Amino acid sequence: MNVNISIFGLGYVGCVGLGCLAQTGHRVIGVDPQKSKVDFINAGRATIIETGIDQILAKQHEAGNISATTDCAEAISRTEVSFICVGTPSTPNGHLDLGAILHVVEEIGTALKNKPGRHVIALRSTVLPGTNEKVVKLLESCSGKIHGQDFAVVSNPEFLREATAVEDFHKPPFTLIGSRIEWATDVLKRVYASVQAPFLVVEPEVAELMKYVCNSYHALKITFANEVGNICERLNIDSRKVMEIFCLDTKLNISKAYLKPGFAYGGSCLPKDLKALRTIAHDHYLECPVLEGIERSNELQKELVCREIQRLGKRKVGFLGLSFKAGTDDLRESPIVDVIERLLGKGFSVLVYDEHVHISSLTGANREFILQKIPYISSFISDDLKKVVENSELIVIVNNEPRLKAVLAALGPGQVVYDLANAASSQTVGKAQYLGVSW
Ligand SMILES: NC(=O)c1ccc[n+]([C@@H]2O[C@H](COP(=O)([O-])OP(=O)(O)OC[C@H]3O[C@@H](n4cnc5c(N)ncnc54)[C@H](O)[C@@H]3O)[C@@H](O)[C@H]2O)c1
Repeated sequence: MNVNISIFGLGYVGCVGLGCLAQTGHRVIGVDPQKSKVDFINAGRATIIETGIDQILAKQHEAGNISATTDCAEAISRTEVSFICVGTPSTPNGHLDLGAILHVVEEIGTALKNKPGRHVIALRSTVLPGTNEKVVKLLESCSGKIHGQDFAVVSNPEFLREATAVEDFHKPPFTLIGSRIEWATDVLKRVYASVQAPFLVVEPEVAELMKYVCNSYHALKITFANEVGNICERLNIDSRKVMEIFCLDTKLNISKAYLKPGFAYGGSCLPKDLKALRTIAHDHYLECPVLEGIERSNELQKELVCREIQRLGKRKVGFLGLSFKAGTDDLRESPIVDVIERLLGKGFSVLVYDEHVHISSLTGANREFILQKIPYISSFISDDLKKVVENSELIVIVNNEPRLKAVLAALGPGQVVYDLANAASSQTVGKAQYLGVSW
């Protein structure tokens, strides 16, 4: 079913949105204070250079599906949903400049005063978490109307890239709607009915943060590939071949693997091999700040866990897991060993259970590592999971093992579970209090 849409801001995002939404069958009015941009749209021309958009706008103009105005009230009165696509630049000190957003919201709020019926405002501009709430308050105060009843604000971040914007608009990775108001979500469902992508409805704050997370990750990928490229170049190795093969691994490299928030990495390979790559870069006088920052970030995650355990104020701590990951007895560079070592130094009473670690049967480098870090480890480690759990005020889940489920379900009040492994939830820890490392 067609929707009457207004788009505030006729720059890259607004102009492409205007053309593409009209292309999918809606009637769209653009709004911009710049008269020249309004004139362009009313002449069936694009306000920007972007592949394919000129033809789309010419055709939609001819069909009478698009128009533009500088008059906000007119656009609000003729439409049921407004997309805010104004700029959100950085201030000189790096904060987000919400000036244009707040200005356009004030205008929309004033126009809503006299509009009968409901209206949806979709925040398409990239804005930080909390902006949706700010916009709701401002609209309520400018319009005298009630959020959820007379109007609704949803967050709908834009993921298109310039130069491929039209294609990205029609085939986004997903359509993301941050909304707590069902009738508003339903309007957006109608707007995007012909876009072939999963339609995801989440809390507004999740939608708002998503764009920043995605773009930061893209920036990380680019700089990582560049640093690898620079190292290859110094070593006279074909960087394009290296990254091409890197991308062929869709099991670990280009995949969901290692992308769950949680505890620090460790083990016998990651720390050692990262160090070696960094060192060879250094030997060739190459600065690689992305590669150099990884270890520090990992150390900070251990420090964060240590601080949180101290903050919780429970002195008897049981660790479920000692090896660097579930299903192995490898203790080398296991990050929890550092945490335990620090807590022992601060006088905490520690118990450890690990299904796979039996100190008496450890050998070689593995045995040497743990005895050097915690010489009396055998007096803290127990084979009795139940005993460890019963004798601990704070239970730290380090590795997720199937055996934990039943024991955790029987926990009593007064106990706290601190989950580093995404292994439990407040519903699965009996009467205990539940805390995740970053959730
Ligand atoms: N450019 C991109 O590739 C891209 C992609 C995704 C998301 N975004 C985000 O989308 C937002 C818009 O980006 P853009 O590149 O289209 O910006 P832009 O600067 O090209 O366009 C912004 C437009 O808003 C207009 N405007 C300012 N105040 C207004 C008001 N009160 N009423 C109506 N219009 C008003 C300006 O005149 C301008 O035409 C930003 O938050 C940006 O971060 C941009």
